[in-house]
Amino acid sequence: MGKNLLAWIDDRFPLTKLWNEHLAEYYAPKNFNFWYFFGSLALLVLVIQIISGIFLTMHYKPDAAEAFASVEYIMRDVPYGWLIRYIHSTGATAFFIVVYLHMLRGLMYGSYKKPRELIWLFGMFIYLALMAEAFMGYLLPWGQMSYWGAQVIISLFGAIPVVGDDLTLWIRGDFVISDATLNRFFALHVIAVPLVLVFLVVAHIIALHEVGSNNPDGVEIKKHKDPVTHIPLDGIPFHPYYTVKDIAGVVVFLFFFATIMFYFPDGGGYFLEHANFIASDPLKTPEHIAPVWYFTPFYAILRAVPDKLMGVGAMFAAIGLLFFMPWIDRCKVKSIRYRSGIYKANLAAFVVSFVVLGWAAMQPVNEVITMTSRVFSVIYFGFFIVLYITSKNEATKPVPDRVTQ
Ligand code: HEM
Repeated sequence: MGKNLLAWIDDRFPLTKLWNEHLAEYYAPKNFNFWYFFGSLALLVLVIQIISGIFLTMHYKPDAAEAFASVEYIMRDVPYGWLIRYIHSTGATAFFIVVYLHMLRGLMYGSYKKPRELIWLFGMFIYLALMAEAFMGYLLPWGQMSYWGAQVIISLFGAIPVVGDDLTLWIRGDFVISDATLNRFFALHVIAVPLVLVFLVVAHIIALHEVGSNNPDGVEIKKHKDPVTHIPLDGIPFHPYYTVKDIAGVVVFLFFFATIMFYFPDGGGYFLEHANFIASDPLKTPEHIAPVWYFTPFYAILRAVPDKLMGVGAMFAAIGLLFFMPWIDRCKVKSIRYRSGIYKANLAAFVVSFVVLGWAAMQPVNEVITMTSRVFSVIYFGFFIVLYITSKNEATKPVPDRVTQ
């Protein structure tokens, strides 16, 4: 009966064809390691966010007079409302941890290089959409940090010459952050940006399956195929091999996720900032305004530059430069395993600068912090410059012909 049903569906919809193309007969390199868990985990978190978000929307009120109280109502009165909210807030942090590790994998193994430039570009647009999504979501609880964080970030657009003031007015829909801002952020957060995100993720995976996955050796497995079956010799079917491996990753991930969600939902003030447990007050600025942790590296770069316009420019450049990785890195060798010491040191300095900048932006401003942010901003941008200069004629190691186990 099952077979008949499947045949009936297959005659009308390419179910088996899609299953085979993308899972059972999608040949992935057999040497995937720890770093290859994070793509499927990002997919999992996307689903978690959408489902928990739907349930939150059933009880949340996008109204400046009611928003804060409706979140408290979810926390106290809605059955398991606290659980749904903490799933969603922990999910936001988990999303960025997973995506940052996923991006770092891309950098380490040169997964942005030919022929995977579009996978990377779709990924970068996903990253932008994710930042927009998180930023707008953070306004919704209408706490002090929601209000003042949005105030600071939106006012940055005011630094843009000529159109700045009109642009901030247009984004807010009012002269200050208000009910109008909350309403539009709600609409964008619950439907517009998630739609864009889902579309981009589908495009990301279609592009990946068109060219095939890279791997920790940076070897193209399609170069060596079985003469009869045309299956890559170093490839194994994604299903069942990697579906099973990814499930193991999911179990470990959910263990950490549940630990944070049940025991440290506010992450000591880093995941849910303490000032956000106070209802927004347009007349009272919190003492320290800092964005949530995943934005802080860029916020540090903004604060490091004395001129507002230049600061905003540097902040956007810090993100924008990543789009150009496929062209900034001119080395033919993909994987860090076979690249030079300079490359390894440069990438390590980049990662350290990202972490230190993230930390610096969470500290109250003083001279030491400003100096630290400046030094590490230079290291951050230095990564791209050094890479561009040194990658062309880099002294690389011989790359094996086949993947190593
Ligand atoms: C919602 C966010 C994202 C989802 C759901 C997602 C999903 C995936 C999946 C399922 C894979 C294949 C499995 C793997 O290689 O780990 C993948 C590969 C890849 N992703 Fe993403 N991704 C996301 C964000 C990003 C971002 C922000 C970037 C970088 C800017 C990126 C760059 C890449 C690259 C370069 C590959 C190919 C890696 C390789 O073959 O070595 N992704 N992604």
